[in-house]
Amino acid sequence: MFLAMNRFKVALGKEDDFINIWKNRDSYLEGVPGFVSFNLLRGETNEDHTLFSSHATWESRQAFEDWTKSEAFRNAHKNAGSAKDIYNGHPKLELFDAVI
Ligand code: HEM
Repeated sequence: MFLAMNRFKVALGKEDDFINIWKNRDSYLEGVPGFVSFNLLRGETNEDHTLFSSHATWESRQAFEDWTKSEAFRNAHKNAGSAKDIYNGHPKLELFDAVI
């Protein structure tokens, strides 16, 4: 099992805008080989942002890497950079191999 998480620092007051982008997106994950599950997680709010993380589980690192090179990934991200004003900085990608 392999987990890919992308952490987003969302500007205060922009949380609903961010959530709506994800709710209204066209998802291309169903049917991608090796895809297991997806969640969008809301974390803590501090003095300058609210933390969110996209959290995807894959059968293997290879399945994840294949998806990042696929048409499905390109389609999912064609508008991803368009709402820059709602973020404090770039997203931070974190990758995990499940050990147990
Ligand atoms: C290798 C790095 C990345 C990974 C693993 C990743 C992961 C994901 C996943 C799993 C989805 C859902 C795709 C679907 O439902 O078909 C998604 C969509 C999205 N990603 Fe990424 N992402 C990456 C890079 C980025 C970057 C650099 C941004 C910059 C803002 C970003 C912003 C978004 C947004 C806003 C969406 C929602 C789709 C939309 O715009 O309608 N992602 N991402």
